[in-house]
Amino acid sequence: MAGGIKVQILDDEQAVAGLAAKFIVELLRRRPDAVLGLATGSTPEPTYDELVRLHCEEGLSFSKVRTLNLDEYLGLDGDHEQSFRFFMQKHLFGHLDIRPWNTFIFDGMAREPEQECLAFEAKIRGLGGVDLWLLGLGGNGHIAFNEPGSTAGSRSRVVTPDPETVEANSRHFADPREVPRRGLTVGVGTILDGRSIVLLATGAHKAEAVARAVEGPRSVDCPASLLQDHPDCFFLLDRPAAARLS
Ligand code: F6R
Repeated sequence: MAGGIKVQILDDEQAVAGLAAKFIVELLRRRPDAVLGLATGSTPEPTYDELVRLHCEEGLSFSKVRTLNLDEYLGLDGDHEQSFRFFMQKHLFGHLDIRPWNTFIFDGMAREPEQECLAFEAKIRGLGGVDLWLLGLGGNGHIAFNEPGSTAGSRSRVVTPDPETVEANSRHFADPREVPRRGLTVGVGTILDGRSIVLLATGAHKAEAVARAVEGPRSVDCPASLLQDHPDCFFLLDRPAAARLS
């Protein structure tokens, strides 16, 4: 499977959001019931704002769209303000005509998390696979909660995020000790199975991870570098995030 990551460098994060939204608009034009795989975090927020704008001002409909999220904290209920379910509701779903029953996120309170992961993989298969995964990128090269060491064949599972990731995510919590130490995540293999991948990275703090992912060796040390094998993978970057590319 020959790929190579295709890179688009844009002026600023608004331009990144505009192009990311365009990818989604074009997909929905071809396939109104597309299956989108979505990230949480700061990076996709402007993209979600733009999708909400397109829905409110230009009639972009999500009434048939199905979504799956990449990950969720283990131990947080969907009503918890820091859960990824809450984030999606606040930033995207709550402003669209998407049907709540078409939005799938790991249940952070699942009694049997391993079973929840198997069920999530089955759900993805049942939906016919993911048309487009929208990803962010961790400063250590992680995608979803796939930390360094995650293999290209990894599937949905329970993980322990790296201390660096816990630290980065603690900015969203009143008390850093509240950040859950375990998460549920789709695997790198689950992501590679998607028909297309659009990764967003903005800001100088992502520049090193971007360079390792795009130009470094394919290595589990930088899970995002494993995307090099995908035949349809775009990185949309602002200038600071692209600064270390040769
Ligand atoms: C969250 C996710 C994570 C983030 C990454 C970057 O669903 O998939 O891998 O994309 O931690 O987070 P931000 O965008 O906050 O820098």
